[in-house]
Amino acid sequence: MVSSPKYLSSITTNCCGFMPAYAYYGAPGSGKGTQGLLVAERERFMHLSAGDLLRRKIQEGDPAAVAVKEQMINGELVDDSLVQGLIRGELIALMDANPDAKGIVLDGFPRNLSQARTLIDMLTELSICFVGMLNLDVAEEEIFRRLLERAEIEHRADDNEVSIRKRIAEWRHNYEDLKAFFSAEFRFYNVDGLGDREEVYERIVKAMRCTCRKLVSLSK
Ligand code: AP5
Repeated sequence: MVSSPKYLSSITTNCCGFMPAYAYYGAPGSGKGTQGLLVAERERFMHLSAGDLLRRKIQEGDPAAVAVKEQMINGELVDDSLVQGLIRGELIALMDANPDAKGIVLDGFPRNLSQARTLIDMLTELSICFVGMLNLDVAEEEIFRRLLERAEIEHRADDNEVSIRKRIAEWRHNYEDLKAFFSAEFRFYNVDGLGDREEVYERIVKAMRCTCRKLVSLSK
């Protein structure tokens, strides 16, 4: 049985009836996926992970995705137009399949300015209300601890020291640009990602409620 949304139901109202969307950003292992899934489960949000989508497309044998497999394993960002096209298609499919969803969390998208600008255009076209970006902040030592632990259990090909360093560097490289972009017109929040999952979850939903106070209405 699907539980009722606990904390975030007012956001839809504040979004003037449009579906609210949030982007989760952060270094690898900061908890974007874990928290995205929790919000999806507890608040009836949709969760769209760019990394999971790429990995699924590779498994399905999608030629464009298969072509970037090595880049992903090396911890490099893949081509913007590929990710943007996949995200757009998946977003439409998710909305069709989940007409009762209360909102959407974009996990790991956007990751640079070009993707950020495309996202806003895409959401406007789809009548989705972008609320803000939440950056999960976790110390490097903890990132390595989490990901090397996951490597032993899940054997994800990019959970190795070289790739983790590259992914951290990518995140650092784009952080200021994304912060400036989203702070200017939307919201950008740093959320402390250290602590257990429930503690981080409480901080996340609190930040999501705060971001909601400054909304860009798509109806204007
Ligand atoms: P992606 O799959 O998004 O990987 P990532 O950004 O490196 O992030 P991770 O999935 O490793 O970590 P996470 O922050 O989601 O943490 P998680 O919750 O899993 O992207 C992979 C690749 O795809 C990229 O490198 C790139 O090549 C490509 N790509 C993706 N998006 C792209 C884009 N927009 N543009 C271009 N290329 C793109 O948690 C990690 C571990 O920690 C888990 O084991 C979890 O159980 C544990 N954990 C979580 N929270 C806690 C906690 N509070 N306490 C203890 N452990 C915790």
